[in-house]
Amino acid sequence: MEKDVIILGIESSCDDTSAAVLKNGVLLSNVTASQAVHEAYGGVVPELASRAHQQNVVPVVDQALKKAGITKEELSAVAFTRGPGLMGSLLVGVSFAKGLARSLGIPLIDVNHLQGHVLAHFIREKDGENHIPDFPFLCLLVSGGNSQIIKVKAYNEMEVLGQTIDDAAGEAIDKCSKVMGLGYPGGPVIDRLARAGNPQAFSFARPQIAGYDYSFSGLKTSFLYFLRDRLQENPDFIEQNKEDLAASLEHTIVDILMKKLRLAAKDTHIRQVAVAGGVSANNGLRNAFAEHARKYKWDIFIPKFSYTTDNAAMIAITGYFKYLDKDFCPIDLPAYSRVTV
Ligand code: KG4
Repeated sequence: MEKDVIILGIESSCDDTSAAVLKNGVLLSNVTASQAVHEAYGGVVPELASRAHQQNVVPVVDQALKKAGITKEELSAVAFTRGPGLMGSLLVGVSFAKGLARSLGIPLIDVNHLQGHVLAHFIREKDGENHIPDFPFLCLLVSGGNSQIIKVKAYNEMEVLGQTIDDAAGEAIDKCSKVMGLGYPGGPVIDRLARAGNPQAFSFARPQIAGYDYSFSGLKTSFLYFLRDRLQENPDFIEQNKEDLAASLEHTIVDILMKKLRLAAKDTHIRQVAVAGGVSANNGLRNAFAEHARKYKWDIFIPKFSYTTDNAAMIAITGYFKYLDKDFCPIDLPAYSRVTV
């Protein structure tokens, strides 16, 4: 009988400490500790994130194993996020993974966080329905740090067709919502407010960039100047228009994202289109995908909400594919803060 492949995944690239256990490609547990400490600062404070990971990593891994009903001696390998991310945060997960794998005498597998987001579409749940893409497919990866259109040719072969030349989509949403005084992270708040607003109420600058690349810094500046001018006339402008502002901002960002994705789908003749990353939780973007599926006959792949933001399940599934390829890493492999897929 074939031996079970049981992977422990560990994610600590930003402000979520997460651990997941996967058996033969099926998810058994996925435990995440988020860090509320950053809310008061309007953004992630790297030093505080590292400290919180230190406190969380042992209990989170312990819980993930217990929930899965797996002992650490049963593990086949430990997969960890190597980068990109905040160096101090990454070091906690990387060092923990190395220590654990070494003490158990099992292989270590390094995972690129962005590749993990894309492969989240392959996470299988015990009793879940699984709509899994075939290769090649396109993936719109939109998060706080990235906005990319990726052609996914295989688990380990991805080509970035286009990406942002300045801010990421999530970063633009967060910065605009900060200007509106909505707190951090702004994405979920903008999403909620937008549901009650008019997306055509206001219009903001749209970038004119060639090819499949994105740019969001002009939109952010246009939003800022627009508010500054309106607030001079009416100090209550934001409070009186927050739903319409959120809806118009969300509509503009979704439109910019979908326009380039449509172009990539048309040029590559690929009709399987996925979305991944924190911004893929956005309802406006999800609705736009559904509309494109109807209009352009796309076969769309939208992750469950729990796999949109940072999670270890996506690290474990990527680790599982690398395990099957015996693609292990040495113990002295360093973390990295910046890189693309
Ligand atoms: O992938 P992710 O969890 O990690 C980082 O890149 O750090 O993405 C976080 C981003 C943030 O910008 C957040 O505001 C955004 O995803 N986000 C959303 C929603 N939920 C999270 N943006 C729009 N609508 C949402 N519902």
